[in-house]
Amino acid sequence: MNKGFESGTMIKSYVQEAHKQVLGLQLPTDPRWADLAQISLEAILTDHAYCEQKAATACISLIQSYPDKEELVKELAPIVTEEWGHFRLVWAELQKRGLKLGRQRKDEYVNKLLQFENKTGDRDARLVEKLLICALIEARSCERFRQLSLHIDDEHLKTFYHQFMVSEAGHYKLFIELATLYGDEKAVRTRWKAFLEYEAEVMRHMEVRGDRMH
Ligand SMILES: [Fe+2]
Ligand SMILES: [Fe+2]
Repeated sequence: MNKGFESGTMIKSYVQEAHKQVLGLQLPTDPRWADLAQISLEAILTDHAYCEQKAATACISLIQSYPDKEELVKELAPIVTEEWGHFRLVWAELQKRGLKLGRQRKDEYVNKLLQFENKTGDRDARLVEKLLICALIEARSCERFRQLSLHIDDEHLKTFYHQFMVSEAGHYKLFIELATLYGDEKAVRTRWKAFLEYEAEVMRHMEVRGDRMH
């Protein structure tokens, strides 16, 4: 499999794609969100740190549940390291600013997405569902990081978030590729569309809050 997230040229093309259609997302983030997010950097960085931790945990869980899927293990093992590295970067940013890592909150957005997960299929079908949920979270995170990279006042955080945006765009692509590897391509595409529509509804009904990434 092509490890697109490691190739500069390919990443550039994903990011261009992200700019054009924001990875297929049906509803752009409310323009007020980035302004609200910078009101408390401690709150948003704390929430971001836990998003990275959860991304690492999700990859570990996939490896634990599907150790027989060699391509999946091969591709996700380094992502665990990368996501945990992201957690450490965000934590370092908090430290540098004299801010504290707060407590983890209830993740309303992810919980809502999990309600859409179809758990009735066979083992491979359930894997595809999980991979598409991961892809969706990566896509929305990428879109949110882009908002921060464009609109946050702090110049250092602009670059900081640009780098996260590029990285999560690569992860999004990888999860879609893995879903297509373990599922029927046409069925995956149809299901992905349904997920995108569902996610837009979730976003539409969620309160715009500056203390959370989603
Ligand atoms: Fe990450
Ligand atoms: Fe990621």
